[in-house]
Amino acid sequence: MKLLKSIIFSAFAFLALQASAAPDMLADRHVQKGNTCAACHTENPPAQTVPTSQCQKCHGDYEALKQKTSSLKPNPHYTHMGDQPCEECHKGHSTPVNMCATCHKIKLNVK
Ligand code: HEC
Ligand code: HEC
Ligand code: HEC
Ligand code: HEC
Repeated sequence: MKLLKSIIFSAFAFLALQASAAPDMLADRHVQKGNTCAACHTENPPAQTVPTSQCQKCHGDYEALKQKTSSLKPNPHYTHMGDQPCEECHKGHSTPVNMCATCHKIKLNVK
């Protein structure tokens, strides 16, 4: 009986944890914070990728992004690659990519 109780308790604890954890994908985290699909997708229904200019309406230009991540070395928003499209690293609905790693052994924790 004690074992059964503890199994049931663990199952609930697990479910509660799942519900409160931030979603894995960037788009889902945006939706969880109250943005609609249309906040990123200008076409309805969503069908294509999101232009960098749309991300920048909320997040600002590279000058602003550079300030936000100025404590990181290297700063992912200020590099010799110039102003890259966001999707080179950040993905809406799939695993993010560290584009610098195609040439360097640089570690970036892209979300
Ligand atoms: C943070 C901005 C953002 C939000 C919010 C967002 N998306 Fe996306 N979506 C993207 C990006 C970026 C792509 C390009 C592919 C990728 O990066 O995964 C994309 C691509 C798509 C595509 C094209 C197929 C594909 O995967 O390439 C569909 C369909 C789509 N999104 C549906 C939705 C729906 C439905 C919602 C609302 C539940 C939504 N998106 C919310 C950013 C967003
Ligand atoms: C409608 C406004 C809006 C648009 C458009 C938008 N974002 Fe966001 N984004 C937000 C808000 C609000 C947050 C949450 C900020 C916070 O939690 O402090 C956020 C958080 C983020 C974060 C950090 C937090 C996390 O969950 O990883 C990244 C990275 C990000 N956005 C990238 C993008 C990219 C890339 C695009 C374009 C595909 C985009 N955003 C489009 C409003 C927007
Ligand atoms: C070279 C890869 C790369 C590109 C391109 C890139 N980012 Fe990022 N971005 C990162 C990394 C890495 C982080 C995570 C920093 C951390 O918190 O460790 C980040 C973090 C962020 C954050 C969260 C900043 C915060 O407050 O902590 C936002 C918002 C963001 N990016 C938006 C964008 C937008 C919008 C674009 C396009 C204009 C873009 N990024 C292009 C790599 C990139
Ligand atoms: C197409 C290959 C390629 C990509 C992608 C790339 N780099 Fe580089 N990077 C180079 C080359 C070539 C050099 C110059 C040779 C050297 O000094 O090692 C360099 C030099 C550097 C340096 C040395 C200092 C400097 O500015 O010259 C840093 C730091 C750096 N890259 C960071 C990055 C970051 C961060 C990214 C991702 C946004 C990135 N690189 C993407 C090829 C690349």
